[in-house]
Order: sequence, then structure tokens, then C-alpha cells
Amino acid sequence: MNIAVLFGGKSSEHEVSCSSVCNVLNLLKDEKYNVYKIGITKAGAWLLTEASEEEIRSGAWEQRADNEPAWILPDPAVHGIRTAGGRVLPVDVAAPILHGKNGEDGAIAALFQLAGIPQITTSMTSAANSMDKALTKLICDKAGICQADWMQVYSRELCDMEQVVERIEAQLPYPIFVKPASAGSSVGISKCGDRAALIEGLKLAAEHDFKIVLEETVVGQEIEVAVLGNDAPIASVPGEVCPAVEFYTYDAKYNDADSLLFIPARLDEAVQERVKAEAIKVFLAMECNGYARVDFFVKKDGTVVFNELNTIPGFTNISMYPKLMAASGIEGKELMERLIKLAMERGE
Ligand SMILES: Nc1ncnc2c1ncn2[C@@H]1O[C@H](COP(=O)(O)OP(=O)(O)OP(=O)(O)O)[C@@H](O)[C@H]1O
Ligand SMILES: [Mg+2]
Repeated sequence: MNIAVLFGGKSSEHEVSCSSVCNVLNLLKDEKYNVYKIGITKAGAWLLTEASEEEIRSGAWEQRADNEPAWILPDPAVHGIRTAGGRVLPVDVAAPILHGKNGEDGAIAALFQLAGIPQITTSMTSAANSMDKALTKLICDKAGICQADWMQVYSRELCDMEQVVERIEAQLPYPIFVKPASAGSSVGISKCGDRAALIEGLKLAAEHDFKIVLEETVVGQEIEVAVLGNDAPIASVPGEVCPAVEFYTYDAKYNDADSLLFIPARLDEAVQERVKAEAIKVFLAMECNGYARVDFFVKKDGTVVFNELNTIPGFTNISMYPKLMAASGIEGKELMERLIKLAMERGE
């Protein structure tokens, strides 16, 4: 089986991808797999590489003299990789481990769709809808999934800041979460306690996206569920993240040893079952395939509030998705096998 594994990318989560992919590569160390590694630089250049895990983790992979520019061609007749040297390498399945923009947003899924190559991640449309927090909320509202009160504004509207702020204040109580619609890893997100903070938060979010999502603050435990499957997905045991800081920022996620994880989450059995059912409902409503991590808040009274989902969730040493699956009896190697099988079942 020839597998193309893609990592890096033009995204603020480039480094997270490099860290995730090392774990994925480890799980693909098996004689039944022939793995091609394609690194995408922050500038967007595609390089077929023999880099080691250490080099991928440190970023040194880009400097290897034997890297060769290589691309997945959209032409389905090629069905694989074309190198600058003119070689054609057939690919049976693709594993794009690319978080955030240009990866998780469906851009890369579209390329594999054109090329006719099955991929372990979800389709272009579901990826794009899941990446956009506003579209996700619209679809989930329609599907009857409980969410925080929310609204959206466009960055172009901020030229009349006074009017925008009044509109927001009429609809949402402080503190208000302000988020770029499509960023990820908490980039550009602020929790705003008053009007001055809201204005700063809006300006910051506008640096990252033309669309901005505003949400009421939900007080509760942060619960994450790993979902796996196509038409009949399964949900993992729920996990709980307990950020040591004000909210789960980029640093808390990747650099802060003080953030605590609980697997299973500290919830009653009945609430755990409700969260799992809700995670599957979100996965299906968003028309996801393959895998996704679905994140919630659970309030003191047991209300389950959907927050967001990630269709290419982190796979780093501290990431929840592989941990939750392992805790549910699906260890790494088996998880990769299942993802590949699910991709082949869906086909191109
Ligand atoms: N409405 C809310 N109420 C309370 N806390 C919130 C709310 N929205 C976000 N948070 C906090 O901010 C964090 C980041 O928000 P969110 O998960 O929406 O962003 P993200 O950048 O997409 O993160 P990810 O890396 O998980 O994709 C959450 O984990 C949570 O701690
Ligand atoms: Mg999140």
C-alpha cells in the first residue's frame, strides 16, 4: 500500500502539523506500508523528503539537500506524485496531516478529490463547513444541537465600530468570546469583559479572517470526544481538558505542562453517554467522514453545549484524539489501519 503523508503547510499550525505527523509516521512503520513523505514549507513549496522525525520536529527537514520538489497532480490518470525529476509515484491513499488553513479547510481534500485518490480525512465540503465556525453553527443550529448564543460580523463592518459594538451588546452579555471564523489553535481569540476589550478583540480577530464569530461565555467543563467512522461512526470515551490559564490558548495547548487532562472526563456515566451521542450527531450533521474531534462544554446542571469540531485533530504526544481512541480500546496502529480502511471504503 503506497501512502502519501503530507505535513507542514501554509498555516499558523505548521509546527503542530510537524509534531503530529511524527506520531503518524511512527504508526505507519510496517512492511505493508510504503510511505512517501511530502513536506510543505511555510511558503507553500512541496518537497518529497527522506527527513527523519527529529528533522521534521525541528524544522531542519527543509534544508536537506536531497529533498526533491514533488506534487500530487490533479490528473486522475497520474493517481499519485510527480517529482521535479520526472518520476511518477503511484499513491493508493493520502494522509494529509495538515491542521488549519489550506489543510483542514478542505483545500487539500479538493486536490485529492480531483486526483481520484482516497484520503483518510473528510471530504472537501464537510472540511470547509467544519473549519468555518459560523457555518458550523448554522448547520448545528438547524440540526437542533445545543450551542452558546452567537452572532457573526464581517471585518469590513468594523469601519463603523460604534454601530457594530452596539449591535453585539444588544445581543450578547459580557464576557464575550471573539473568534476569527476560521483560524484554529486559539489563534486570534479573545475573551472580552467590556467594550474596550471587545473593540480590541474585534480588531485582532479581523487580522485573521474577514468573518468574526461572537459567543456568550459558557461556564462549564471542557469535554472532547473522538469520533471515527463513515456512515455509522463511533464515539470515544469523553475526555476533559482543564486549562491552567484563563482559557485554552495556543500556549496552554502545546507549551503548558500545567494544563490537566482527565480520561475519562469527570462526568456521570449518563452525562458521558449524552456527550457521546451529541458528538455523533454533530459528526453526521456536518457530514464528516473518517475522523474528527468534537468539543463541548458541560455545565454544572449537565447541559451539553457543543463548541466546535476539528476534522484533522492534533496527533501530537499530548493530543486528545489518539489518547481518547486508545482509552476506548483503539490503539494507534489499529487506528491508522481503520482510518485507511474507511478511506478505501469511501473511495476517491
Ligand atoms: N463560548 C465560550 N465560552 C467559554 N469558553 C470558551 C468559549 N469559546 C471558547 N472558549 C475557550 O477558548 C478555547 C478556544 O476556543 P475554540 O476551541 O473555539 O478555538 P480554536 O482556536 O478553534 O481551538 P482548536 O485548537 O481546538 O481548534 C476553548 O478551548 C475554551 O477554553
Ligand atoms: Mg478548540
